Amino acid sequence: MSLKISVRSVLPSHETGDIIVVGVPASDFRSKNSKKKNDPFTLDGFDRELGDALGRLIKKEEFKGKKDQQLAISPVGRIKADRLVLMGLGDIDKLGGADVRTFAAKAARTANGDKAKRLVLGVPAGLEGRLREIAEGLELGAYRFTKYMTGDRVPKTELSHVDICLAGDVKDVPKDAKERIAIGQATALGVNLARDLSNEPPNVVYPDTLAEAAVDAGKAAGIAVEIFRYKDIQKRGMKLLEAVGKGSERKPCLGHMSWTPANAKRRVVVVGKGITFDSGGLSIKPSSGMGEMKHDMSGAANVIGLMAIVGRLKPNVEVHGIFAAAENMPDGNAYRPGDVWGSLDGKSVEVVNTDAEGRLILADALAYARTLKPDFLIDNATLTGACVVALGNGCSGWYASNDAAAGEFQSAVNGSGEQMWRMPLLDDLKDQLKSDSADLKNSGDRWGGSISAALFLREFVGDGVNWVHCDIAGPAMGDRVRGWDPKGGTGHGVLTFLDLIERAEHTVSDGSVPKKSERKSKH
Ligand code: BES
Ligand code: MN
Ligand code: ZN
Repeated sequence: MSLKISVRSVLPSHETGDIIVVGVPASDFRSKNSKKKNDPFTLDGFDRELGDALGRLIKKEEFKGKKDQQLAISPVGRIKADRLVLMGLGDIDKLGGADVRTFAAKAARTANGDKAKRLVLGVPAGLEGRLREIAEGLELGAYRFTKYMTGDRVPKTELSHVDICLAGDVKDVPKDAKERIAIGQATALGVNLARDLSNEPPNVVYPDTLAEAAVDAGKAAGIAVEIFRYKDIQKRGMKLLEAVGKGSERKPCLGHMSWTPANAKRRVVVVGKGITFDSGGLSIKPSSGMGEMKHDMSGAANVIGLMAIVGRLKPNVEVHGIFAAAENMPDGNAYRPGDVWGSLDGKSVEVVNTDAEGRLILADALAYARTLKPDFLIDNATLTGACVVALGNGCSGWYASNDAAAGEFQSAVNGSGEQMWRMPLLDDLKDQLKSDSADLKNSGDRWGGSISAALFLREFVGDGVNWVHCDIAGPAMGDRVRGWDPKGGTGHGVLTFLDLIERAEHTVSDGSVPKKSERKSKH
């Protein structure tokens, strides 16, 4: 369910709700004396209504609107809400889209935590251009996965309405406010779909379940969906996907979702790893933390969530979303260490570790994706623990096949504000993948494990492709609340891929940006 979001240019102190959250820039305090008339502070009105109690508390708590500073009070007085929360924003000129998204997410999370149904959100002047990020933050912050809770565990209330109050004159509400909010909500709902799929337990989400989710999302958003079942996989020669999926009762599949507007100038292909449960296979994982491996299909979930957004935003860019789905299980029929398998690409692979399964299914998915002749090819996968060791739980690592592709992807990362760090494709480590019995083996040694996995994938992408590989193993499964992300499935990556697609709308296929006059206005 999506939130009902309205936007007006009124002081939040005049509004009615269960909770009022006001974003307070540090400048509200610094420039109090030099304040111009008709330029109201976000806190104007509150102090009068509260009989100076707010002013006294602000002094006592030394609340100065610093970033992440927070002050909560239960107002008794004439404020029409049970709670008033001031959230410091720091220097408003330094706030990027991601900071604004985080602020809105915190407000929504606080509202849910306070059992509030109606949130009044005070937004200071200067942020009226960020309504898309505010709407995204609200939906992303309000997200909870409570499907399997019963009795007392079921949250009794849920945030349903948000009144955004832009401090300033009515003329400050941008004309396209409604549209930007709608785009922000559509974006967040796609990310939330990815989170839902990632959070579902592995006895609910099997490869076929991902296929169904893709078909459903495609129907709802006007995206064409093709599913290759086990038979098709065997027929087409996707031998690595077949091998990984063999040990499970629930057979593998491959999904291809496509958005193909008639006059698109660029084609972006996004590929995702969809291991619905990674036991490690015969190279079985230790039992501690194995349950986390239900999130090992987060790359595929991201593809499905992304395509749901693409179908709603309808960019003038061709976008294909591809996911390879399998369950990695030990069994009499499972693939083994020592096996040699062919691949869709033709290269042979010696399996030395059945727990390095992600790169195998991606190898076939990438070889398939390459046949679509993408201008830009991205894959995303919870691929290696090594990447989590390198960058922690809140940041993914990405690799680019060339610097032009890296530049384009970095712009998208800057645009989305997601924590994604570029890593090097060190040719030096290629030796680790040399096999005595096949073209390649599927795992190297311990050191540089995220890099050697990326080098393995590169073998199946080939030369001359603008390709970025994202290892999302850490941030796809959050160990705690972070920014706009909850604990558990996060949908990390979707915002960046979408940003890249929206930028590609204004970029011609040699990678250059056309002159302003040649650009079509967006939406
Ligand atoms: N799905 C895991 C990677 C992973 C680990 C994701 C921890 C999230 C958190 C992947 O399939 C895997 O098992 N990778 C191995 C590779 C190794 C066997 C070469 C790893 O990282 O240990
Ligand atoms: Mn594994
Ligand atoms: Zn895995």
